[in-house]
Amino acid sequence: MSPSTKEIRGPRPGARQEMGKKSAGERVRALWWERGALRAIDQRRLPRELKVLRLTKVGEVADAIRTLAVRGAPTIGVAAAYGMVLASHDPRWSATTAARLLGSTRPTAHDLFVGIGVVRRAWDEGEDLLGAAEGYRDAVVEECRAIGSAGAPLVAPHARVLTHCNAGALATVEWGTALAPVRLAYREGRDPFVWVDETRPLLQGARLTAWELEQEGIRHAVIADNAAGHFLHRREVDLVIVGADRITRSGDFANKVGTYEKAVLAHENGVPFYVAAPWSTFDPRLEKGEDIPVEERAREEVTTWGQVVTAPEGSPARNPAFDVTPSRYVTAFVTPAGLVSPGRISSLLRAHRPERPVHEHGTHLDSVRLDPKGAVRPRRARLRS
Ligand code: MRU
Repeated sequence: MSPSTKEIRGPRPGARQEMGKKSAGERVRALWWERGALRAIDQRRLPRELKVLRLTKVGEVADAIRTLAVRGAPTIGVAAAYGMVLASHDPRWSATTAARLLGSTRPTAHDLFVGIGVVRRAWDEGEDLLGAAEGYRDAVVEECRAIGSAGAPLVAPHARVLTHCNAGALATVEWGTALAPVRLAYREGRDPFVWVDETRPLLQGARLTAWELEQEGIRHAVIADNAAGHFLHRREVDLVIVGADRITRSGDFANKVGTYEKAVLAHENGVPFYVAAPWSTFDPRLEKGEDIPVEERAREEVTTWGQVVTAPEGSPARNPAFDVTPSRYVTAFVTPAGLVSPGRISSLLRAHRPERPVHEHGTHLDSVRLDPKGAVRPRRARLRS
């Protein structure tokens, strides 16, 4: 039996968080702040072991993000925000060097740079850094909860949902993006079923999404990545919902490699394809998908299976961590403000001119408006498709 969240030793997640508040999203919490340290579930070890890391240095946070112990765009944004807080406790780090280190870990996830920027700004202005990080975390969690409400009506009774990678609570601190509507539909008694792509090469679907669904008792089946077309073609998928790492003004977006082919297959088979994301994932500076930096990771992630070598030593390999899906394949974006068609993103974001954009030292920041607690919000949240 895989470990459950009940087995986490010590206090429940969230020393400075609303401990008494219970919600489905609280069953899995990817990270929390506790007595001067960032505690985070080590996502490399799931589902075999539920281990909680204790990170006390900015370098440890950067390593955890780089090695995918802490992963998923919104979660790494929040982790990086706390990483900035830890750097501020060590006189060897400046806001600039800490932001540069954290910003070098995963280039594709826009949320990373938003999280860094929120605390960087507080640092520059002599404000409460931990308060800024906590405010940002709260905003991300709240936005994911709102994504759940906005997307749940898409999940009809007994709907069969296909998802790729892990866009659940582990990837977003709580709730999830793609999984939030499923979670809510489940709580509302609609008994959804989830096809879980295994998600080569690091198996975030098989290891993490399946683990989250199992924790909540949501029906699911893990499938090989290359089986998705089979089930789409046989009309065994009612809708596809995925997360995103960066969404451009045109609606082209980056997500875990393999997303593009799922989108094309969904289109070919007339199955709606939704992309769920908080505001921090939208990058108003970029127009097209080709502008998104795509992270390439180590060859060994592709040529080995655990300790087992699966390709000839001499064979080169390529390992893009993400791919870019053109907006024409997206039925709608599920945002905290509701469903938004790809054609409306640009006008939605144009309404949110940067107050103080920061572009420096490889750390570019969001150019959407920040509320006083660091929440990334559009000015006119009611804009919908
Ligand atoms: O490389 P990962 O595991 O960080 O990739 C994560 C994804 O691609 C997720 O789908 C994305 O970050 C959205 S998370 C809500």
